[in-house]
Amino acid sequence: MPASLADCAVAVLGTADARAKTALSRRCAAAWFEGREQGRPMPIGTARPPDRPARPAKPELLDPRDVPRRRPGSAAGRLAILHAIAHIELNAVDLHWDIIARFTHVPMPAGFYDDWVKAADEESKHFDLLSDRLEAHGAFYGALPAHAGMWRAAEDTAQDLEARLAVVPMVLEARGLDVTPGMIALFEKAGDADTVAALEVIYAEEVGHVAYGSKWFHFLCGRHDHDPKDRFHDLVRRYFHGALKPPFNVEKRAEAGLPPDFYWPLAEEV
Ligand SMILES: [Fe+2]
Ligand SMILES: [Fe+2]
Repeated sequence: MPASLADCAVAVLGTADARAKTALSRRCAAAWFEGREQGRPMPIGTARPPDRPARPAKPELLDPRDVPRRRPGSAAGRLAILHAIAHIELNAVDLHWDIIARFTHVPMPAGFYDDWVKAADEESKHFDLLSDRLEAHGAFYGALPAHAGMWRAAEDTAQDLEARLAVVPMVLEARGLDVTPGMIALFEKAGDADTVAALEVIYAEEVGHVAYGSKWFHFLCGRHDHDPKDRFHDLVRRYFHGALKPPFNVEKRAEAGLPPDFYWPLAEEV
């Protein structure tokens, strides 16, 4: 077991095999929470995260325009959706460990690390659940091509913790809340109860990840005396490429601490 939380993060980021990455991620999370509960917390430490996380040789990473589109109503279409979500979850594992290792120079309460370690642990579980579903359908993670460029948000916000929080949990993960109910309906219609159950777990836990983003974004705005809404608009316009896409899941976004006046002005200005 790595000696510090930052070393844990770099070890997970440096693990290429997807199942090995999620297994190490979950062991590190368990060690962190065990230390916290027993009153002898693992040190945060410092470490240099890689510019890009290690990833398996497969899936082949393609420009989003070159990823083949399949009809969502077909079995092949549903498999492609599962594969795409698994890819997003694996990226999320790396994103959460990256925020832990990359911003250790910004003094943050221990609760900040609790939240992102928990989120990383949950993303690891999500990836495993989806890989299990792919395997139950005779496929596996790596069997299809996947989107390249998912790490772009991390690179764009590598110098600015507030921007990272605005773009990753509060824009990208909030987008997950918008689209997941439609995916659940699709698998319900296909009678795939096990995939529906996996997606329900993911949907419930993703609300928490958006809420962590909002909580720590507001915390930093308080520290720097910024108006959170103005700051959010400013950072998203600067660091996120493109407008936010309605329809929005107003209810789940509100539950996660994202009121409409945060996101609507960013959708309307296309
Ligand atoms: Fe997830
Ligand atoms: Fe998430």
